[in-house]
Amino acid sequence: MTLPLRMAYVPPLVSFRDLRVRRGGREVLSGVTAEIPRGGVTAVVGLNGSGKSTLLRTMLGELPFRGELKFRCGHDHSRPRPEYVGYVPQRLHIDARLPITVRDLFGLALNRWRPLIFGVSRRVVKRAVELLGRVKADHILDVPVDGLSGGQLQRVLLALAIDPQPELLLLDEPAAGIDFKDEDEFYQLIADLNCSTGVTVVLVSHDLPTVGKFASHVLCLAGGVIRSQGHPSDVLTDTNVAATFGTSAR
Ligand SMILES: Nc1ncnc2c1ncn2[C@@H]1O[C@H](COP(=O)(O)OP(=O)(O)OP(=O)(O)O)[C@@H](O)[C@H]1O
Ligand SMILES: [Mg+2]
Repeated sequence: MTLPLRMAYVPPLVSFRDLRVRRGGREVLSGVTAEIPRGGVTAVVGLNGSGKSTLLRTMLGELPFRGELKFRCGHDHSRPRPEYVGYVPQRLHIDARLPITVRDLFGLALNRWRPLIFGVSRRVVKRAVELLGRVKADHILDVPVDGLSGGQLQRVLLALAIDPQPELLLLDEPAAGIDFKDEDEFYQLIADLNCSTGVTVVLVSHDLPTVGKFASHVLCLAGGVIRSQGHPSDVLTDTNVAATFGTSAR
């Protein structure tokens, strides 16, 4: 007997089993067992220091771990590779005051072997316009990087993270630096990317109402362990939120 399509089992894109990560001589993820559903938007929530960024960076292959991390993408490899994983880090390691424009930044990112003094190639400009269009920011191509608002900078980083088209998009507090009034629009943009390309999104957020609105799956981290996981309506209950964030969180 075949199952109706809506009941067919879709294996998770990523699964962790007893994942342990040490940083600074101590275990900061202590036996994480969790799944990232394929094609969904998974939010990772938890207090400062609970291990959210560590979890993302472990998925990215940047940190050594014990336990099991399975990445079931459509390619033949057991560990994530950057061409299939887009990443916007919590903190930038470039100086946002660089005296260059967004166009130059794309030139550096998409055509690394071509020094900027030769200008940005027409092919890269075309691709940059295309990518910026997908994050609704094509009008900022010639804005200096140090003149971008917090929200515009996040859009540029998002545009860079979706080239080449990833299967997994890791966004560590993507709405940091974005005004409250623009935050919803930014999350809607991420939801649209998820819908239009099928990319699996994992994002870290401290904004529980927004998580409830945009995420299809939630992982609650507390002290390096998973407190609860599942659909937002099952996970973001008063009891779970109090256990994860303290009794006054609501
Ligand atoms: N490079 C490092 N060296 C030593 N300890 C680290 C390092 N980076 C993180 N840690 C520790 O690992 C733990 C988890 O850090 P992580 O950055 O993953 O937390 P987080 O949940 O992302 O916090 P935040 O909400 O503040 O971003 C923290 O206790 C932190 O102090
Ligand atoms: Mg963090």
